[in-house]
Amino acid sequence: MAAALRHFIDTQDFSREELLRIMDLVCLLKEADKAGACPRLLQGASLGMIFEEPSTRTRVSFEVAMTKLGGHALYLRPGEIHLGKRESIRDTAEVISRMVDVIEARTLKHKTVLDLVANSTVPVMNGLTDYNHPTQVVCDVFTMMEHKLPDKSLTDVHVTFVGDATNVCSSLMMICTQMGMHFTHAAPVRYQAPKAWQDIARANIAKSGGTLTVTDDVNAAVKDADFIYTDLWWWIGQEAEIPDRERAFMPKYQVNESLLARAPAQAKFMHCLPASRGVEVTDAVMDGPQSIIYDQSENRLHTEKALLAYFVYPRLKIADPSAIARYRSAVDDFHMRATELVS
Ligand code: CP
Repeated sequence: MAAALRHFIDTQDFSREELLRIMDLVCLLKEADKAGACPRLLQGASLGMIFEEPSTRTRVSFEVAMTKLGGHALYLRPGEIHLGKRESIRDTAEVISRMVDVIEARTLKHKTVLDLVANSTVPVMNGLTDYNHPTQVVCDVFTMMEHKLPDKSLTDVHVTFVGDATNVCSSLMMICTQMGMHFTHAAPVRYQAPKAWQDIARANIAKSGGTLTVTDDVNAAVKDADFIYTDLWWWIGQEAEIPDRERAFMPKYQVNESLLARAPAQAKFMHCLPASRGVEVTDAVMDGPQSIIYDQSENRLHTEKALLAYFVYPRLKIADPSAIARYRSAVDDFHMRATELVS
């Protein structure tokens, strides 16, 4: 019997234990990749990748992950399919799910990905919405496990996110508090994580331990940080707000060498990328010895392999080789008869 249909839309839909199990799979499939021995678990399977916005890491990591697992990915670029414009989201989801084994979707509105889920008969993976970015943060916590001080347990790790309350900030706040870690968001009051997010994070803390701090005191925020993380200060559609945002964040919330010097020596710098070099972070930090941004990016690939192996592989029908041979022989017979008819 095929495994139950499950989607990957929000880390909050999963327990701490299950997220840790998925990270074990990330570790295993990273090791397999390094040995050139990635198992072809998804042979013959297809992934439909819907993008309403451009992407480098999410697109490349999902597509390469499918290839490495023996499957195939279709890049449905922004504006290329009818989704929600000339066709309802329901019709798109119903049709695509009859043809592919899994859907990845980056949508402008979180509701769009939820509508896809409601009408899809195959797993849907959230590749970023205006609310969250769950595949990114599974990768991020896995990267923190690799780079934390070896004698520190995950629940002793301090993560400080500096900057705007972006979709990545939201997901990172959720997963860190689910893990029982110490999460701080440092931003001007106007750009701090909204109360609704903080309520979810505090409920996580009540279950798993850890702490949540939201502050405008960036120097205090980095004092105990093992990881300092930032993201863009503005995104597509926020162009009119750039002067206000620049005034609010610059220079106090820029991650530069002077801010990094206020953190413990072991502090590492992370960024989901793309970055605006010289804006939310300087070149010296991006390219400096404490930066782990490219290890973090590479781990997107291993994370997507693990998510696909976890949610899709158990659902695939693996045919008995004798059944395949029977169908091949039937097609050969068909051609033989067709040739006799035309000769
Ligand atoms: N971090 C991230 O999601 O990058 P892309 O926008 O390039 O996919």
